[in-house]
Amino acid sequence: MSPPFSETLVQRLREADWVTVFTGAGMSAESGVPTFRGEGGIWETFRPEELASMKAFLRNPELVWRWYAHRREVMGAVSPNPGHTAVVRLERLYPGFAVITQNIDNLHRRAGSLTVYELHGNIERNYCAQCGEPYQLGAGEPADRLPRCTACGGAVRPDVIWFGEILPEDEWKGAVAAARSSDLFLSVGTSAVVYPAASLPVMARRAGAYLVEINPEPTPLTEVADEFLAGRAGEILPLLAEVAERLRESTMRTGGDRE
Ligand code: OAD
Repeated sequence: MSPPFSETLVQRLREADWVTVFTGAGMSAESGVPTFRGEGGIWETFRPEELASMKAFLRNPELVWRWYAHRREVMGAVSPNPGHTAVVRLERLYPGFAVITQNIDNLHRRAGSLTVYELHGNIERNYCAQCGEPYQLGAGEPADRLPRCTACGGAVRPDVIWFGEILPEDEWKGAVAAARSSDLFLSVGTSAVVYPAASLPVMARRAGAYLVEINPEPTPLTEVADEFLAGRAGEILPLLAEVAERLRESTMRTGGDRE
């Protein structure tokens, strides 16, 4: 996949007041974080209900904690990829901009993105499953031993959304507002099958956004999208950022074509 992009996409990149980038596990794949579905996906080896649900945690909190400790280690050891950096470059160009992510790996923030709605939580945070008190892992604390809440002694859990749980209200409200404000909405590296997150691209399009999907494989969203860019996030997003930078710079030089 290489530029030139379609005329409509170029026009939106040039004129948009608000751009939203909605990301899933494919965004972090090139950083070395495994995706959930597809070849080598996490859910090929593990059953989500055995590891990513309150029921699983109540049944065996140590096992669930160890699994997330392992994932925290994997995610902490990797770095943002050129796709994440391109999203930061895009944020600098538009007065309205948001990242909405289903990822818990913190890579958008580590790359430098400022407005990030984390729909499924963040693996770097923890809280007590009993009283809700946030829990900060100590520097020397063995990462794979289930911590107990210092306030009430309850089991500590990762601050991530499990199956059957509702999304954090503020993050969801911010995400919906961003989706509805968007002139351009990029859906990147998500299989678009987990709701309510997967409803955002459609919501954005209904509200007038030009919907572009970036993924090496088609998804249920592909038919709905205005445009499907087949390829990897780490390759396509830098190209988009480069084109957008050129377009916005020339718009600024000429004083904008809406004057
Ligand atoms: P999935 O694992 O379901 O989908 C990853 C998508 O990324 C697939 O469509 C791949 O084709 C695509 N992909 C792979 N490599 C890519 C690359 N380099 N560039 C772009 N795309 C690439 O991940 P999500 O859609 O994020 O929820 O999954 C949604 C939710 O399901 C997750 O947040 C998690 C999971 O269960 C919870 O934990 C609540």
